[in-house]
Amino acid sequence: MEPIRVAIIGTGSVARSHVQSLQSRGDEVEVVGAVDIDGDRLSAFCEQHGIPNGYDNVADLLEKEQPQLVHVCTPPGAHAEAALKCLGAGVNVIVEKPPTLTLAEFDTLVEAEKESNAWLATLFQHRFGSGALRLQKLMADGVLGRPLVAICNTVWFRDQAYLDVEWRGRWDTEGGGPTMGHGIHQIDLLSAIMGQWTEVSAIARRQARTTDTEDVTMGTVAFANGAIASVVNSILSPREESYLRFDFEYATVEVSHVYGYGDENWTITPAKGYEDKVIPAWEAGPHGTRSAHVAQCIEVLKAVREGTPPPVTSSESRRTLELVAATYASAFQRRPIRPEDLGPDSPFYQRMEGDGPRW
Ligand SMILES: NC(=O)c1ccc[n+]([C@@H]2O[C@H](COP(=O)([O-])OP(=O)(O)OC[C@H]3O[C@@H](n4cnc5c(N)ncnc54)[C@H](O)[C@@H]3O)[C@@H](O)[C@H]2O)c1
Repeated sequence: MEPIRVAIIGTGSVARSHVQSLQSRGDEVEVVGAVDIDGDRLSAFCEQHGIPNGYDNVADLLEKEQPQLVHVCTPPGAHAEAALKCLGAGVNVIVEKPPTLTLAEFDTLVEAEKESNAWLATLFQHRFGSGALRLQKLMADGVLGRPLVAICNTVWFRDQAYLDVEWRGRWDTEGGGPTMGHGIHQIDLLSAIMGQWTEVSAIARRQARTTDTEDVTMGTVAFANGAIASVVNSILSPREESYLRFDFEYATVEVSHVYGYGDENWTITPAKGYEDKVIPAWEAGPHGTRSAHVAQCIEVLKAVREGTPPPVTSSESRRTLELVAATYASAFQRRPIRPEDLGPDSPFYQRMEGDGPRW
């Protein structure tokens, strides 16, 4: 089996998780090259990880290394340009979250993907831990009954110094605050479990940080399956938690962690009388995989090898991005938002802050 030729664009902090995940696959993968606009960072990264060739631009990397897969690990504002170059050259590409700054920008990638023989995926690692897979299996097997109520909290803490990094806390470079930058991890898992959203009502505030964007949003979401969810995204919360709770007819399923979960972070509580139906199914489901980058990388490499659609596909990541856009649109327009409100005519399609935040 020839190794899959993979390259990395952007060699900052998250790129380390990518290269370590790829190199942990041994002979399955060869990391053939990397790109960064910061030459010192690029050479240190290549040297540290034994990557043979570094480039200061994507076109040279694509031409000289002929990768089969590219991981885009730049700040969000540079994702779209890099992904467009890859798709244009017929190279599969996975971009870090958030995939793009806006829905409009994302749709340029959808169009490029349609024209290309390559695909676009987004890195949302929390879909790939065994707890999430187990929950989805029990839902598919009808063990849990109807989903009724959900809670989706990303209550994290970031001090003012965190926001001093040039691209953070700005609509034009990060596309939003904790909703777009942090909560999107949990919002994506909520979306993977619950499916299509139908209505969002939210408020956004700047409570304590000096930043262009929000430092907290709080919202309610209705889903086509009939369930409703509350969603909180904060960087003001000293006791940090990423918490998802799903109340089904026959059981409550919960996960509580901060930046990555294992099986030990999940619990299931059957409704009275459903213990014998629910507990054995939960125990028999998938186990043993943490929600780390490597879990999704394994599936993405499999998609390259087998020529199958990648996880997470562009339509799935668009739905997550749309839910974030709906949160801002509802908060700033002060009204409930439905998917049809976010078409190309909406200012929130063009920019996450629409025609300007109203605090
Ligand atoms: N999935 C996760 O758990 C997770 C965790 C952290 C960050 N992220 C995401 O990863 C991305 C990068 O975050 P980070 O913390 O590593 O940022 P970073 O600032 O540490 O690194 C970004 C790197 O990209 C380089 N860069 C900037 N513009 C470039 C361009 N046009 N071409 C090539 N290189 C360019 C920078 O020089 C820098 O080395 C962001 O989208 C962020 O939201 C995801």
